[in-house]
Amino acid sequence: MSDWARLQEEVTSDLQQARTTSELEAIRVKYLGRKGRLTEVLRSLAKLSEGQRRLVGQEANALRDFLESALTARRQALRQKELEQTLKEERLDVTLPPIPFPLGHRHPITQTLSEVVEIFTHMGFAIADGPELETDYYNFTALNIPPDHPARDMQDTFYLTEEWLLRTHTSPVQIHVMERQSPPLRIVAPGRVFRHEAIDASHSAVFHQVEGLAVDEGISFSDLKGTLSLFVRHCFGPSVGLRFRPSYFPFTEPSAEVDVQCLLCQGTGCRTCGGSGWIEMLGAGMVHPKVFEAVHYDPERYTGFAFGLGVERIAMLKFGVEDMRLFYENDVRLLEQIPRRWAWG
Ligand code: DAH
Repeated sequence: MSDWARLQEEVTSDLQQARTTSELEAIRVKYLGRKGRLTEVLRSLAKLSEGQRRLVGQEANALRDFLESALTARRQALRQKELEQTLKEERLDVTLPPIPFPLGHRHPITQTLSEVVEIFTHMGFAIADGPELETDYYNFTALNIPPDHPARDMQDTFYLTEEWLLRTHTSPVQIHVMERQSPPLRIVAPGRVFRHEAIDASHSAVFHQVEGLAVDEGISFSDLKGTLSLFVRHCFGPSVGLRFRPSYFPFTEPSAEVDVQCLLCQGTGCRTCGGSGWIEMLGAGMVHPKVFEAVHYDPERYTGFAFGLGVERIAMLKFGVEDMRLFYENDVRLLEQIPRRWAWG
């Protein structure tokens, strides 16, 4: 009897000392496991005489029942305590700001393209579109560059067949638009162009242009100058210098090239501007009468100006990027440095 009492006492004190559910499990194993003390007692019952077996059996079963219900009760209490502890320690502060979600943005070339187009649409130009796959006629002949004209050498062309090619500039959009519409018209045509060119810091085989065209009665070169001056001021700021240089394009007469003061060196001369302090930004001029003839416009009645600008050039100047190839490698370390949107004013 005293053995039973001692065992019961031992069990009770073990249970009281248990601090965690795993300690509780250890107690269960100690008494009720396969080699547990109570299990051993119960197993040895078989060896006892009938009378003893009943007596000991009763005691042992009672102790087992006690132990099992005590274990269950204690386990529940400890679980509750452990849960409260976890809830206390792992409390979430729902007022903490969230981890910022990285937002992407448009590619610098796309940004520049739409910024340029926007400046012109604000001036009243509509947006026009044309195919990247062109015929020799639209890309050259209709633009007063007949076969054998030396000006074809100015643009190294990807030919697909004798007739079909990848457009070398956005100027053929001028022809498409004038074939469809009669004057007055003012359009800009942004797009991709292709040249069979050796790739380096300032040349790419695929690049972007924005073409412009305005046709009406009485349009003069001063309209062209005013429009492009306004564009340059909106694009680069009011203080940047620009200059018109006489030039030659078969589809305009007279023709000019427009240079913008180099923003990287403020016009003092650097690697990007080749030491001159100026960067060539676009070609422009008054639409050649031959071009009007090709689209059956009356050159006696109408005049117009046209221009074509290089988007990569502008992006390089705006973002201070000295190597055009960086735009096409799409290294996020570069792209992430480009601001989401730029605008002067
Ligand atoms: N198409 C020319 C080029 O890619 C650029 C150009 C020059 C476009 C003069 C024009 C223009 O509309 O008038 O080099």
